[in-house]
Amino acid sequence: MKPPLGQHDVDLWVLDLDCIEPELLDRYLSFMSDEERAQEQRLRFPGGRERYRCTRALARTVLSYYTRCDPREWVFGANAHGKPYVCHPRGIAPRFNLSHSGRMVLCAVTCDAEVGVDVEQARELPKAVELARRFFAPTEAAAVRNAPLEQRSRVFLRFWTFKESYVKARGVGLLVPLDGFFFRLQDDIPPSIDFADLRSDNPDHWQFAELRYGKSYQMALAVRRPRSEPLHIRVRRTEPLAHITDPQRLLDTPLRRWHIQDAP
Ligand SMILES: CC(C)(COP(=O)(O)OP(=O)(O)OC[C@H]1O[C@@H](n2cnc3c(N)ncnc32)[C@H](O)[C@@H]1OP(=O)(O)O)[C@@H](O)C(=O)NCCC(=O)NCCS
Repeated sequence: MKPPLGQHDVDLWVLDLDCIEPELLDRYLSFMSDEERAQEQRLRFPGGRERYRCTRALARTVLSYYTRCDPREWVFGANAHGKPYVCHPRGIAPRFNLSHSGRMVLCAVTCDAEVGVDVEQARELPKAVELARRFFAPTEAAAVRNAPLEQRSRVFLRFWTFKESYVKARGVGLLVPLDGFFFRLQDDIPPSIDFADLRSDNPDHWQFAELRYGKSYQMALAVRRPRSEPLHIRVRRTEPLAHITDPQRLLDTPLRRWHIQDAP
C-alpha cells in the first residue's frame, strides 16, 4: 500500500544508474515526449543520454506513484529559470525536484512544500579554497580554508550542495546571490541557513538535511517548512519499472550507509 504523502513528509527517491538493467532503457524511451527524445539526442557527453532518459523515467514513475496518472501522461513545463513543474494534469501532482551527478539521480517529493535537492559526486577539488572565496559567504569560505587539506574538497561540497539545494528550492537560479546566504554546519545540531540581508528570506521557514552515500556522493535537501515543525524524510531506492524499495525495508539494504539528519 502506498504510504500517503503528508504535509510533514519528504520522500527522496534514489536511482543508482549502475543498478538499471539495460533492457529497461527501451521501456523508459516509450515514456518520453517527442521534445524529451529530441533533447536526449542533443546530449553529447559520455553517459549523458542514459542519465537523461533515466531521470525522465524516475520523475514520471515517481509522480505516478502518488497518483493514478499514467507515466506517459505527464507534461512538464519550466519556470523562467528552468525549474520543472507539472503542466498537465494539473492539481494532482506533488511538488518535486531533480538532481543528478555521476551515476546517481535523485527526485525529492513533497505534498505542497517548495523543495530543492542537490547531489554531487565526491571528487578532489584542487581549487576549493579559491572557488569558496569567489562564490561562498565569508564564514563558509573560512570554513573551507581552515579545514585540514585532505578534507577541504569534502567541506566545499557540503556547503555547495546545501547552497544549491536552497537555490533549487527557491527555483530562481542565480537571482539568489550565492554570498547573500550562508549555512551553519555543525556535527551536533541540524544544518541551518542565515541571510546577510534578513529582508531576503526568513531562516526559520527552512529545514535542511544532509545525506551521504558512502564516500561517493554528497547530497543536500532543502524544504520550505517552519523549523518548529516536524519533518519526516523517507529515503527510497528505486529502479523504475523493476521494483520499488519500500522504506520499511531500507534497513536491510546497503542504504544503511546513508546518514540522514532529521530536522528537530
Ligand atoms: C540550473 C541548476 C539548478 C542546475 O544545477 P546542477 O547542479 O547543474 O544540476 P542538478 O543535477 O543538481 O539539477 C539539474 C536539475 O534541476 C532542475 N532544474 C533546472 N533548473 C532549475 C532551477 N532553476 N531551480 C530548480 N531546479 C532546476 C532540472 O530538473 C534539472 O535536471 P534536468 O535538466 O535533467 O531536468 C544550477 O545550475 C543553478 O542554477 N545553480 C544555482 C547557481 C549556482 O551556481 N550554485 C552553486 C552553489 S554554490
